[in-house]
Amino acid sequence: MSEELSELARRRGFFFQANEAYGGVAGFYTYGPEGAALKRNVEDAWRDRFVTREGNMEIDSPTVTPEPVFRASGHLDDFDDMLVECPDCGESHRADHVVEDNTDVEDAESVPTDEVEALIAEHDLVCPECGVSLVGQPVEGFNLMFETTIGPGDGDPGYLRPETAQGMFTEFPRLKEYARNQLPFGVAQIGAGYRNEISPRNALLRTREFTMAELEFFVDPEDDGPNLDRVADVELPLYPVEAQQADGEEYLRLTPQEALAEGVVAGEWVAYFLARSKQWFERVGVDMDRFRFRQHLPGELAHYASDCWDAEGEVGGDWVELEGVASRTNYDLTKHDEHADDSFTVFQAYDEPKTVERATVDPEMSYLGPEFGGDAGEVADALADLAARDRSAFDGEEVTVEVDGTEYTVPTEQTGFEVAEETESGRHIVPHVVEPAFGVGRAVYTALAHSYETDEVDGESRDVLRLPAEVAPTTVGVFPLMDKDGLGERARELAADLREAGLSVTYDDSGNIGRRYRRQDEVGTPYCVTVDYEALEEGAVTVRDRDTTEQTRVPVEDLPTVLTRLRDGDASFEEL
Ligand code: GAP
Repeated sequence: MSEELSELARRRGFFFQANEAYGGVAGFYTYGPEGAALKRNVEDAWRDRFVTREGNMEIDSPTVTPEPVFRASGHLDDFDDMLVECPDCGESHRADHVVEDNTDVEDAESVPTDEVEALIAEHDLVCPECGVSLVGQPVEGFNLMFETTIGPGDGDPGYLRPETAQGMFTEFPRLKEYARNQLPFGVAQIGAGYRNEISPRNALLRTREFTMAELEFFVDPEDDGPNLDRVADVELPLYPVEAQQADGEEYLRLTPQEALAEGVVAGEWVAYFLARSKQWFERVGVDMDRFRFRQHLPGELAHYASDCWDAEGEVGGDWVELEGVASRTNYDLTKHDEHADDSFTVFQAYDEPKTVERATVDPEMSYLGPEFGGDAGEVADALADLAARDRSAFDGEEVTVEVDGTEYTVPTEQTGFEVAEETESGRHIVPHVVEPAFGVGRAVYTALAHSYETDEVDGESRDVLRLPAEVAPTTVGVFPLMDKDGLGERARELAADLREAGLSVTYDDSGNIGRRYRRQDEVGTPYCVTVDYEALEEGAVTVRDRDTTEQTRVPVEDLPTVLTRLRDGDASFEEL
């Protein structure tokens, strides 16, 4: 982001480093009044799109999570970044970032650690802090989770959640009841995530505490997908693996249906959420000329994902990941089903009961016992597993199973193998998950960067944030032409009336009108209302549009409705 925007963010109260009075710690930011309002509006727009309009549920789960959850989810073992330490100044760096910043390698995150060490040696890379060589320094995995203890004394180990997603997975046994066990259904959550980033950087883009907005959408992969007609006209700028590997920068521009038909995107729900995501990013102020969906390279995929597309925005010449739309398959629920006490399956009833053939065994224990001693029970279990999996294994005279690396051969006639017909009314399945996961701070930051402009008005340069009216921190600035002759009182009254009507309003009577307009342009306020002498006489005020600086007069009694319609996108300024 440009220096000017960082300066604006600090000066006008969008965001600034937290705890500066105590020196501050890298990776923690406070949103000031303008930033908090913008962030809240962005979150509300997300909730409107991904919860309300999709008919999904929203929950709010704790941020401190006991260790067994992350043992089951795989985060304890796999949630690592690559760390390299400078032998001289001791500064820690993301080894993949050191490589990416200084070589042509674009996605070092997907390269194994030993190859990253080799790249550091090959390019003779040095510490970005002090310039001492990093060649020969070990590159190691560093787990990003913040550890804590729960309770007094030694307590129980716990972690600050690195994603809100696990809250949706661990509560799944209850959530499926609220969804009446009917797939598909979605559960969303907006809340803090924590990652002990090795090198936080670029303000809100890489922080150690950040707000995530995540949707876990639970589906039966054998069921029908979404109604893609609802997003048929959305064109997706897609940057698939093949194009990246060919070093091309050409994006495919396909509708969801085309992307599926051409095999570019594999899943219907993924295609659907890519379209909904694009619409949402545009709605909150991300420039669609600097936006794309990039597919993860194979080595880049998180430990739980089988495919993932990142929504990326271009900021300051770099592509920034704003959201990941991942196919998490049934990885998470299967893991929790294995480790937890509850059931993470859903019973899917068939429309009509089905007659199915089921292969079973009833082994002759008077044979297995003397033959296999203490292992007989496990051999019987292994035979049952094998019958369910591969009934052809019982075609011959003998059948062989493996228990703890040892093979046991049993005459087929002693297994009691038979295939019988049964009536089934449904089946238990572990749902698959499609997950659109957004970083709210990154969306806020990109919307700011994309809406920030310096232009010229009346021969003077002005800084303006062309934020969409829906997310702008303030919708209306109300000014009296001067604070005398009753203009101030009338303007204050008008501001109070507009607030009562649910609009976000600021009142300003200091300095000349031109300066007041500039102050509101700088924080992205889309409309300003001036109360002048004619307003007192005629009961109509001047409304000024931020982007065009055009003005028009509107009767005071119509003002709440007109401004609400403008904010909600139900009318345009030109129409006035
Ligand atoms: N549950 C999936 C998940 O956590 P992720 O891609 O690791 O996926 C989701 O994170 C989003 O969170 C990212 O697309 C990004 O926008 C945001 N994000 C991740 N790490 C971040 C950080 N250190 N600072 C700010 N935002 C971050």
